[in-house]
Amino acid sequence: MSASPSPPQKARVLTGDRPTGPLHVGHLLGSLQRRVAMQDNHECFVIVADLHTLTTRPQRERVAELPRNVRAVVLDLLGAGIDPSKSTIYLQSGVPAVYDLAILLQMLIPVSHLRSLASLAQMAKVADLDDEHVSLGLLGYPVLQAADILMARAELIPVGGDNLAHVEIAREVAQRFNEMYAPVFPLPAALPSRVEMLPGIGPDGPAASKMSKSAGNTIELGDPPERVASKLRTLTGERLRGFVDALIDDREHAAATIAEHAAGKLDDAAVHDLLIDATEALLAPIRERRASFEADDGLIEEILVDGTIRAREVAYATLQRVREAMGLEPLWKGLIDVAQRRAEDRKRPY
Ligand code: TRP
Repeated sequence: MSASPSPPQKARVLTGDRPTGPLHVGHLLGSLQRRVAMQDNHECFVIVADLHTLTTRPQRERVAELPRNVRAVVLDLLGAGIDPSKSTIYLQSGVPAVYDLAILLQMLIPVSHLRSLASLAQMAKVADLDDEHVSLGLLGYPVLQAADILMARAELIPVGGDNLAHVEIAREVAQRFNEMYAPVFPLPAALPSRVEMLPGIGPDGPAASKMSKSAGNTIELGDPPERVASKLRTLTGERLRGFVDALIDDREHAAATIAEHAAGKLDDAAVHDLLIDATEALLAPIRERRASFEADDGLIEEILVDGTIRAREVAYATLQRVREAMGLEPLWKGLIDVAQRRAEDRKRPY
């Protein structure tokens, strides 16, 4: 055999979103831009985490919204510049090996650890669930996320602040697995996002919060220019300055604008105009790409199916290694061997 040198392996990256609706500028600055930047030098997996939406929204009506929301998320990913020839975009529920893996990993994390997570309490609150009604599925949210990460044997996980604790759990589970059975998993590490807190649109005030779909204060990636402009014009005070900080790339210009506005030397309208230009420069190419993907009938579905098939292969291969390391595969093979021998014995003429 000729010793052809194998190409150096690119580090695997995995991240993604729950398909609860269209993505917004907060997602773009917080994570989408980074995913696009990473896809050249890494092997990227982008999960559309529909099973995770079920943890707080299992109702039939909510499940019925998934087809539309899944499509919207994939369109936003492609619009933002995720290139399906470089990144694997896949549908979580289309990769059954992940459920198997999640069940096995559940054995490696104490419930007490999950109960104390602020992120889960927050999700329960948003979904209007009191303690009594938190499902096993919601409690297990981070374990399912660990299965997503570990099925790809991913090393780098770009996430927002609310997900850092989940990546930590994935790391812990991986470490425990490696110690107990065999070193199957690289230890995943979180890459925290740069713009942690883009304010939501609206006037400044005590109710001001970060841009989030649940707060209904977003600028969506698919919003037309007039809507973007009118949303930006609602910003005042700290929120307006927070936007300048997040959207004006030129750091000196941003700092000067913030200082002048805070000192009353620059009025809201002037800052709005500046922001409208900056946001338009950011969103115009996204809108264009989005439109071209949308016009190509069936393309989004094809991309998602292709990505999911690839994710299935990767997940299945990992599951096999896990079953082997834990002794479950040998258990099954042992049974098969005996049953086969018996079948052969029976066929033997006497
Ligand atoms: N928990 C993520 C969110 O808040 C979505 C997600 C599911 C995810 N599995 C993941 C993120 C794996 C990173 C890695 O929407």
